[in-house]
Amino acid sequence: MNILVTGANGQLGNEMRIVTKGSTDKYIFTDVCDEHPESLEMLHRLAGDDIDTTTTKLDITNLDAIRAMVKENDVKVIVNCAAWTNVDDAEAPEKYDLVEMLNAKAPENLAVAMKEVGGLLVHISTDYVFGGDPYNTPCKEDQKGTPTGVYGITKLHGEQRIQATGVDYIILRTAWLYSEFGKNFVKTMLNLTATKPQLKVVFDQTGTPTYAYDLACAIYEILENRKYEGNTGIYHFSNEGVCSWYDFTKMITEYAGHTACDVLPCYSDEFPSKVKRPAYSVLDKTKVKEMFGIRIPYWTDSLKQCIKNFK
Ligand SMILES: NC(=O)c1ccc[n+]([C@@H]2O[C@H](COP(=O)([O-])OP(=O)(O)OC[C@H]3O[C@@H](n4cnc5c(N)ncnc54)[C@H](OP(=O)(O)O)[C@@H]3O)[C@@H](O)[C@H]2O)c1
Repeated sequence: MNILVTGANGQLGNEMRIVTKGSTDKYIFTDVCDEHPESLEMLHRLAGDDIDTTTTKLDITNLDAIRAMVKENDVKVIVNCAAWTNVDDAEAPEKYDLVEMLNAKAPENLAVAMKEVGGLLVHISTDYVFGGDPYNTPCKEDQKGTPTGVYGITKLHGEQRIQATGVDYIILRTAWLYSEFGKNFVKTMLNLTATKPQLKVVFDQTGTPTYAYDLACAIYEILENRKYEGNTGIYHFSNEGVCSWYDFTKMITEYAGHTACDVLPCYSDEFPSKVKRPAYSVLDKTKVKEMFGIRIPYWTDSLKQCIKNFK
């Protein structure tokens, strides 16, 4: 089976390159940008010289280009790892159309292209579709979306537009994604805690980090064993456990050995932000575990592995 990965040079896309290395399916990795030299080096270090680092150019805002690539390569599944992921920048009013285009219209394009060939769209969404209601129990798949910012709103629109096409889809909502690739919270905190004597981090936002490698493994498991057949729908996937950004940072500091940095808890209002982030967006993963038989690693175990990979 031929499987097309979009946004292949981002965090999740690069982990998809690693986990699919031995697959009997053919994966085609696409993006709008070239692979970053640092990511290339990391890919080779983690997965050997024979890892597929090629990037075929594909802009997912262009439906005709998607259709052509699907036809040319007889694509039966698309895994959409592309998105607008900068939550703060998404709030700029002049960026709204662009963010909506990438997070809502482009996934619809992919869904249309897959619907036309009877294929499957695997799409990644976010815990930020929740957060507007005060709750403190893990969010379930069928819970009403209550996004608090443009990123969450446009990602929710993306889910709705995919569903409206009637395509077979797996939407995996994930949270607090980090990896060895690109920009992410772990990398930022590794740098800050290495250089600053003291750091304040918010403790009033609760969620669960997700190692992009673990998410890629879950996607691979669902596709390689054709577990999606008869099981399409929305699912939640993050690592196991719950923490605040403060707790997350404390563990990053500990595993990196940056003990000279004094990490202190603070409230969100100490850091005025353009966007209101969810106070609680823990995802309930019962459905993904029961349906696909996936065992999800605990967040600190995965974090430890990722930091080890940086060393
Ligand atoms: N990051 C998180 O914390 C987080 C949390 C929850 C959910 N998610 C979701 O998880 C998924 C993967 O996130 P990620 O962090 O791996 O993303 P990422 O690292 O930002 O990678 C996204 C990739 O998509 C590319 N792209 C941008 N515009 C494109 C276009 N028009 N056509 C094709 N590719 C395009 C980007 O290229 P450029 O770099 O050139 O723009 C980048 O290589 C996304 O759906 C995201 O919404 C992420």
